[in-house]
Amino acid sequence: MKAKIAVLPGDGIGPEIIVEAVRVLEAVAQRFSHEFSFQEALVGGAAIDATRSALPQETLDLCKRSDAVLLGAVGGPKWDDLTGAVRPEQGLLGLRKELGLFANLRPVKLYDTLLHSSPLREEVVRGTDLVVVRELTGGIYFGQPRGREVRDGVETAFDTDIYTVPEVERILQVAFDLARKRRNKVTSVDKSNVMASSQLWREVAIRMGERNPDVELDHLFVDAAAMYLIKSPTWFDVMVTNNMFGDILSDEASMLAGSLGMLPSASLGAGKLGVYEPSHGSAPRHAGKDEANPIATILSGAFLLRYSLDLDTEARAIEDALSRVLDKGFRTYDIMSPGNQKVGTRKMGEFIAREILEG
Ligand code: IPM
Ligand code: MG
Repeated sequence: MKAKIAVLPGDGIGPEIIVEAVRVLEAVAQRFSHEFSFQEALVGGAAIDATRSALPQETLDLCKRSDAVLLGAVGGPKWDDLTGAVRPEQGLLGLRKELGLFANLRPVKLYDTLLHSSPLREEVVRGTDLVVVRELTGGIYFGQPRGREVRDGVETAFDTDIYTVPEVERILQVAFDLARKRRNKVTSVDKSNVMASSQLWREVAIRMGERNPDVELDHLFVDAAAMYLIKSPTWFDVMVTNNMFGDILSDEASMLAGSLGMLPSASLGAGKLGVYEPSHGSAPRHAGKDEANPIATILSGAFLLRYSLDLDTEARAIEDALSRVLDKGFRTYDIMSPGNQKVGTRKMGEFIAREILEG
């Protein structure tokens, strides 16, 4: 197969981890005789520096012409004082909105070999395997009106959390379809005891549950969901949330897997084009030191193969190669534990690529 992959390294550790993910995808291409072409473009702070926009038109056009987009991370202290007009994060939000990527999949799976890396007790986290399905183009992230003004002499700021029935239906459907390929269970998260948008969310979720009777459905308020994630993580299979709840809960859930550096993500829309990126940020403190964990980005590459290119065997080849490298005891600093061997970004990428070629 021939595929065009847009590569957006971004900021901080982005460029380093992207190199390793591309290395691994190239190994896949070689082993399975595919032809992947990689084209780079600017996003985030790097794009602001060069063009004053976090998402230049050229980058957006490249993404639209591609079969899939692989992204590193955006942001850093250099652009932190940009309080209003341009911020690196706008690159991400713009891509999501412009490409219609309403469904964000963030799987949290704890590898048995990494049991010791989780800050939670072994007997609590063992067997954790869940996916956060986060709505990505609606809710409070994009809702209007939003802004700042002086009301009755008092400086005031406001946002709008807003959802339509079709928006909730389509993200719930993604969750049900995904659950069917897993353990057949969906937990819908809302705050319907307080928020109007969540009341609508719950009503639609109940209706969608009736339309998908083969999948078990339950509902949790977001505060309870935050608590159960820590208390009984193995209880969850697919958790479906609005944009903001998913942002928060997915960071919380990442700790179950030992490190945010292990978590890939896929952002999908109605078609095949998707954006694949690690769930973590640009970690500026670790940039340029050959120490960042590239695994989340490499696993995002596996997602890219599975969801945008329908190459499931190839995706599994990456996941199996990673398992073997972990079994051999190689660890980046963030998942290091006694008795294992610490390696840097590059070595980790090389080892996984080599396992693919030899596997
Ligand atoms: C994420 C990030 C982004 C978000 C930021 C960087 C805008 O936290 O992808 O989870 O809030 O969606
Ligand atoms: Mg986040």
